Amino acid sequence: MSVGIGRERQFEIYVGGARGTYPAVPVAFERLEQAARKAMSPEGYAYVAGGAGTEETMPANRAAFERWRIVPRMLRDVSVRATATEVLGTALPSPFVLCPIGVLEMAHRHADVAVARAAATEGIPFVFSNQASRPMEEAALAMGDAPRWFQLYWSTSNELVASLVSRAERCGCSAIVLTLDTTVLGWRIRDLDLAYLPFLRGKGIAQYTSDPVFLDALQETLREESPPTGRITLAAIGTLLGQAGSYPGSRLANVRSGLARAAVRRFVETYSRPSLSWDDLAFLRERTRLPILLKGILHPADAVAAVEHGMDGIVVSNHGGRQVDGAIATMDALPAVVEAVGGRVPVVLDSGVRSGADVFRALALGASGVGLGRPYVWGLAAGGEDGVREVIRNLRADFDLTMGLAGVASVRDIGADNVTRV
Ligand SMILES: Cc1cc2nc3c(=O)[nH]c(=O)nc-3n(C[C@H](O)[C@H](O)[C@H](O)COP(=O)(O)O)c2cc1C
Repeated sequence: MSVGIGRERQFEIYVGGARGTYPAVPVAFERLEQAARKAMSPEGYAYVAGGAGTEETMPANRAAFERWRIVPRMLRDVSVRATATEVLGTALPSPFVLCPIGVLEMAHRHADVAVARAAATEGIPFVFSNQASRPMEEAALAMGDAPRWFQLYWSTSNELVASLVSRAERCGCSAIVLTLDTTVLGWRIRDLDLAYLPFLRGKGIAQYTSDPVFLDALQETLREESPPTGRITLAAIGTLLGQAGSYPGSRLANVRSGLARAAVRRFVETYSRPSLSWDDLAFLRERTRLPILLKGILHPADAVAAVEHGMDGIVVSNHGGRQVDGAIATMDALPAVVEAVGGRVPVVLDSGVRSGADVFRALALGASGVGLGRPYVWGLAAGGEDGVREVIRNLRADFDLTMGLAGVASVRDIGADNVTRV
């Protein structure tokens, strides 16, 4: 008989210890982050760890979770626990997905492919980022039949939007997550102090440089491209080489052709469309039969508008505090969004999820599932594919045990009665 993922993982670790083997990455979030920091460049660490402005929203996300306390129930036969659920037709063995995270090459050289493999082994859906370090086709290939979604940024080119969506369909993605909260980049103080933006170094633009529509447009940019101007500094040469190294093909050929530099320029011109409005959604709705979730919703009226515009799901997210400093914490926004949506579409929550208790609390307030963000990036930096797999397994285990110890045998039975606000 299965003992459940919680006990299985505990024993794996404790029995391992008795034999002298230890987990690949720390279990505690803070120690995991420290281990990742040691493995990363200062710029890479700052990019992942940082938030917008005074970085007030990151602790606010945590504080909002902590205001909700679980009230365990006793004597409820929790010997068999059903942690699996489903969101928009995608099966979730535990109620979470891996959030779309751009520029994973700053955490590990195998980047998205390592995460894809780890996610696939556990059957946890991976949401491919529009700012990935590897083309979605590569990540999909590493996943077999395991579930995945695609996260879209709406660029200035609708043709590119359509192309990315049809590639995602061909890659076996079973939902599109349209991120709305990053029409421009937030005021990210750590990156500003280091004067570092990965995209300008050619990192995190692999979905573009592998796209036929983007590549066509790139030829035009290349024709207009003038040679670099200004003083030639060591840093400028380093940037040029970095861009060329990130672009597909040989570094030398990329320096000679000017393609890598032109690709960065074209990306900057293409990325994001701040004019995007509700009426634009019809274009996307017509392009795909896949379910579409809107990510970045925090106001109940926007949640209602999403449903009215034919969207299939909502991701309550403040982008991990990276966009609007002082934004409402997602656990504070969730109840009103859930109420406004009234069960018409599923609501997923991310930003600040660090433990099984967090997953449980979000579900208790009506979320259908949650998104795991920074923790798996730290796992990737500290331990590569194995590190990500352990982070996933640990969260699955922690959630399973939390649910059982709270006296709930099935995800479907988690409800408002299981928590109280303090
Ligand atoms: C380094 C980094 C890169 C991210 N890149 C993307 C992205 O490309 N697309 C997107 O929709 N969200 C992106 N996000 C936001 C995540 O999807 C998610 O909303 C956030 O990480 C949740 O907060 P948490 O990591 O504190 O839990 C990124 C977050 C981080 C930390």
